[in-house]
Amino acid sequence: MTRPIALVTGASSGIGAATARHLAADFRVVVAARRADRIQALADEIGGRAVACDITDAAQVAALADSIGDRLDLLVNNAGGALGQEPVADADIEAWIDMYDKNVIGTVRVTKALLPALRTAGGTIVFVTSVAADGPYEGGAGYCGAKAAERMIAGSLRLELVGEPIRICEVVPGMVMTEEFSLTRYGGDAARAAKVYEGVPGPLVADDIAETIAWVASRPHHVNIDRIVVRPLAQAAQHKVYRVS
Ligand SMILES: NC(=O)c1ccc[n+]([C@@H]2O[C@H](COP(=O)([O-])OP(=O)(O)OC[C@H]3O[C@@H](n4cnc5c(N)ncnc54)[C@H](OP(=O)(O)O)[C@@H]3O)[C@@H](O)[C@H]2O)c1
Repeated sequence: MTRPIALVTGASSGIGAATARHLAADFRVVVAARRADRIQALADEIGGRAVACDITDAAQVAALADSIGDRLDLLVNNAGGALGQEPVADADIEAWIDMYDKNVIGTVRVTKALLPALRTAGGTIVFVTSVAADGPYEGGAGYCGAKAAERMIAGSLRLELVGEPIRICEVVPGMVMTEEFSLTRYGGDAARAAKVYEGVPGPLVADDIAETIAWVASRPHHVNIDRIVVRPLAQAAQHKVYRVS
């Protein structure tokens, strides 16, 4: 029996890289992201395959779909992230466009391109959204909006595909301490990024979400985990984070 095939986007760091490592036990894993050197190293480590791809570029996504071929068992739509945390009055329009390009348009572009191969396999799509999709917070409008829009792709698709053997699942992380998420959000300001996790006893780490994704994907195929929210114990709600001073 040949092993099933999984594609993980945003696999060059954080949750995506951890997910690829976890899935490698059961899948032939294709890892995609823009930084080719990183995904090649990961592919070598896990016996997978790397495809450099910017999901905001239609031609690169088409090439990614071509390289997958006519069968895909699992797509993990993980590529994305936040940029900035300024109030709406000071909205950085370029940053908003970038967030929508990768979290929303890029995700739908990848999903659309891979849907025929997922249909052939009777596959599973996991969308990695965020608790930011649950509601607004000050300075969060751009990211919250983008993640909420990504959630709508998952929800609409599940309705549209009912009767077909494709599962649509949404994994919703709370605060996850990954190396790059906050650093990217704050334009490389390491001190500001570190503040996000300061004093939090046990923020989630990438492996926590990777394990959840692998669990969602490994349920019997008639079991569809529509949405699963995973927060650290110290984060009771978006604004309610316990910190040790
Ligand atoms: N960390 C958290 O607290 C948290 C909480 C909730 C949800 N999330 C979500 O979880 C996902 C992963 O986050 P993370 O914490 O692992 O952050 P991360 O380490 O910054 O990972 C983001 C990944 O997305 C890739 N990416 C960004 N733009 C891309 C593009 N245009 N084309 C292709 N790949 C692109 C990056 O790779 P390249 O730069 O190499 O392309 C990177 O591998 C994101 O969707 C994020 O919104 C994170």
